[in-house]
Amino acid sequence: MEPLTSVPSQIVESVNPSLIPSRTLASGAKMPAIGLGTFGSDNASHDAVAEAVRYAASLGYRHFDCASVYGNEDRIGRVFRQLLGSGLRREELWITSKLWNDKHGEDDVIPSCEKSLADLQVDYLDLYLVHWPFPNHHPPGCDVTARSPHALPYIHEHYMRTWRKMEELVDRGLTRHIGTSNMTIPKMDLVLRDARIRPVVNEMELHPHFQQPDFFRYLIARGIQPVGYSPLGSPARPERDRTPEDTSPTEDSVICRIAHRLDLHPAVVCIKWAVQRGQIPIPFSTNPRNLLNNLRATVSAPLTADDMKAIEKVDHNCRLIKGHVFLWKENQLWEDLWDVNGVVTPA
Ligand SMILES: NC(=O)c1ccc[n+]([C@@H]2O[C@H](COP(=O)([O-])OP(=O)(O)OC[C@H]3O[C@@H](n4cnc5c(N)ncnc54)[C@H](OP(=O)(O)O)[C@@H]3O)[C@@H](O)[C@H]2O)c1
Repeated sequence: MEPLTSVPSQIVESVNPSLIPSRTLASGAKMPAIGLGTFGSDNASHDAVAEAVRYAASLGYRHFDCASVYGNEDRIGRVFRQLLGSGLRREELWITSKLWNDKHGEDDVIPSCEKSLADLQVDYLDLYLVHWPFPNHHPPGCDVTARSPHALPYIHEHYMRTWRKMEELVDRGLTRHIGTSNMTIPKMDLVLRDARIRPVVNEMELHPHFQQPDFFRYLIARGIQPVGYSPLGSPARPERDRTPEDTSPTEDSVICRIAHRLDLHPAVVCIKWAVQRGQIPIPFSTNPRNLLNNLRATVSAPLTADDMKAIEKVDHNCRLIKGHVFLWKENQLWEDLWDVNGVVTPA
């Protein structure tokens, strides 16, 4: 395993995990209010991500956002085994994994979860998510114009067949909770109508430039915890995920002004805002200083009410992870994936 880039000597602090805030889910379970993202994009190797998990745990992180498609669950599993073999109890960790899009088939859900469990070297997950509501496979790292010839739109009956198997995972004790990711209000309406076991969490893009206020309020009102991915605006996302209209929350003048006043990095202000607003951010980092600063953001002095109001105003509906590769027909706009007309986009 590659070592992390040398740890600066002044970084000797950690955060007592019992001080890190948590969110109480509809089940009564407590989920740490910050997690470590583990998607290395095209930049961080699988071993570098695993080493970041090990170092993050030593700093006090207890929540890890994994997924089979990130390709590194086996490396991260070795770290979990070491941690659990050296005194950490399984119930002190919160481990999330996700079902990838080519595994929505009824016969694929349980084996996929079992594979993640084997790779992560644990007996159960705390949370298993359906990664995207589309069963459309594309090769990792493919170009934004790539499309599966078998691509399909969201078909609720298909999704519910997958969801029944997700429910079975809970019944069998393979995961404590199930949840959704990359959903919209109209899709969620249907799932909540038909689910036997409700999603406890929806994972979604959330940062100051993309606050999704209506969906956020919708979820909170229904007791579903929003988990915010790309909470810093994913500054190192691959070129294929960039468009000229994209903006960066860590370069926002309001956020930079608050950061300057508090002598913090703008990224840390984004994390403070996220935690105070009530979502669970899952920032990715392999940098020791950033890992520590992001964790400390959850236990240090909060932003003022005025800061929170000022950040609320910088939202401009700037979705960064648009999902082009999931489009199912020619000449479609990526907005079709997100049901912008308030109904599930028809086939
Ligand atoms: N459910 C989904 O469909 C989905 C989609 C996308 C992402 N995710 C999850 O969300 C996680 C996070 O999203 P993301 O990786 O796209 O983006 P992100 O967390 O918004 O940004 C990560 C980047 O920010 C930098 N960074 C982190 N902390 C920093 C700090 N304190 N100061 C300055 N720079 C800092 C990191 O660089 P350094 O390494 O140098 O710190 C890294 O390049 C992923 O890893 C994944 O687990 C889920």
